[in-house]
Amino acid sequence: MTTSRVTLPVIDTKFRKKPNLGNIDELEKTIKVFKQSLDFNLENFQSAKALPAEFYSEQVWRAIQVMLRQNWLAVGHTKDLVKPFDYFTVNFAGGLLLVIKDEEGKIHAFKNRCTHEKKIVVAPPEYPEKGNLADVERLDNKKMLKCFYHGMKFKINDDSQLTKYVVDTWGPLVFVLMQDLRDRPEQIELEKKRLHTMLAPLNEITKDMDIASFQTDNEVWDDPLKCHFSLYDGNYCDAAHLTETHFDTLAKSLDLSKYRCQYLGPTSLQTAPVKEEVSGIPGGAMAYYFKLPPTVAINVYKQNRDRSTPLSPNAINWDSIDTNIVRPIDRRNTIVTFGFHFPPGWDKPLKEGEPSLSEQYKASSKKIQFQDRDRCENAQIGIENDLGDDTDDFGHFLKPEVLKFAFQKWMIEELERVIAESKK
Ligand code: FES
Ligand SMILES: [Fe+2]
Repeated sequence: MTTSRVTLPVIDTKFRKKPNLGNIDELEKTIKVFKQSLDFNLENFQSAKALPAEFYSEQVWRAIQVMLRQNWLAVGHTKDLVKPFDYFTVNFAGGLLLVIKDEEGKIHAFKNRCTHEKKIVVAPPEYPEKGNLADVERLDNKKMLKCFYHGMKFKINDDSQLTKYVVDTWGPLVFVLMQDLRDRPEQIELEKKRLHTMLAPLNEITKDMDIASFQTDNEVWDDPLKCHFSLYDGNYCDAAHLTETHFDTLAKSLDLSKYRCQYLGPTSLQTAPVKEEVSGIPGGAMAYYFKLPPTVAINVYKQNRDRSTPLSPNAINWDSIDTNIVRPIDRRNTIVTFGFHFPPGWDKPLKEGEPSLSEQYKASSKKIQFQDRDRCENAQIGIENDLGDDTDDFGHFLKPEVLKFAFQKWMIEELERVIAESKK
């Protein structure tokens, strides 16, 4: 375990609206207990214990929702925002988002709720009868959105009357910070700097991978999980589950003797060599599992090869990236969206009659996800059982779980901050 933390810009939070967190004294007491169980330091972590079940309770969920709105969240893919007025809608822990390209090609993220009676302005695809972008096309040469309820119109630009969030992109991903900072441009710059400082290790890993040439696969797979999002996120950071949960998948293809965990505060990175004989990647590769809390994970596979000379025209580029957008719906339900980003040529098979490289990759990724889903949903069942049980005892600690505890510790510190701000 090595640590090499990045220095993030300090964000001024004085102007934020105070959230309503219910019984704040009770909540504060609960958070103190969480803090005790995670009272450890990264170099000497034997004292860490599993979080009490109350962390996953309704009482704490409201504070978690506030915390989510104050952090950068990956919410979708740039591939869905190509032409003017391309858009997607998304529900993120109760926050309704409309992400849309304007006429000039600029991406905006709006709160998808009308300023009149708070109805949804643009309905998600599952409710197309409740208004959609056909309304945009009819109005003022495509310049306005129209609420389907009483017909209020909204501009699609920086002056929109809708609540407007901060938006940015990294590679194939669209990030949103659910704060309207239009009258604080210097704050927007600081927040964007915070995002890109956190992403810097990923830029370092991918800098010679030509990811601009990658295409996001058409199949973006939404996997609904019956569990709290942080069980899934914690599981991602937990190197201890590889040998048991993924005994016939990842554990076979990675050289676990060289598995390495790094806490970069608050991001983390797990790395391991990928075996050539199992993966089929000539020369093998390095696997990088990068977690940007609270929700997104980015997985990079980088082939071992001499990068000082370009690949010959017919050679296959074996590098790849897949992204896991973890989207909390409520405290018991989460959707993980898998995006696959491949270099040119992956839509073809290596040998005739075989599935394409992308199909093979997606199939193995799904198998791994089914294993993780099972594990996380089982953990949720255990938690629901513990919630009514006051004899709750703390779990044991395994050394390779350290990044999971670091992730949980970061969340607890964030909740402490949210509570402190609500008391000011
Ligand atoms: S709720 Fe949108 S116009 Fe009335
Ligand atoms: Fe896993």
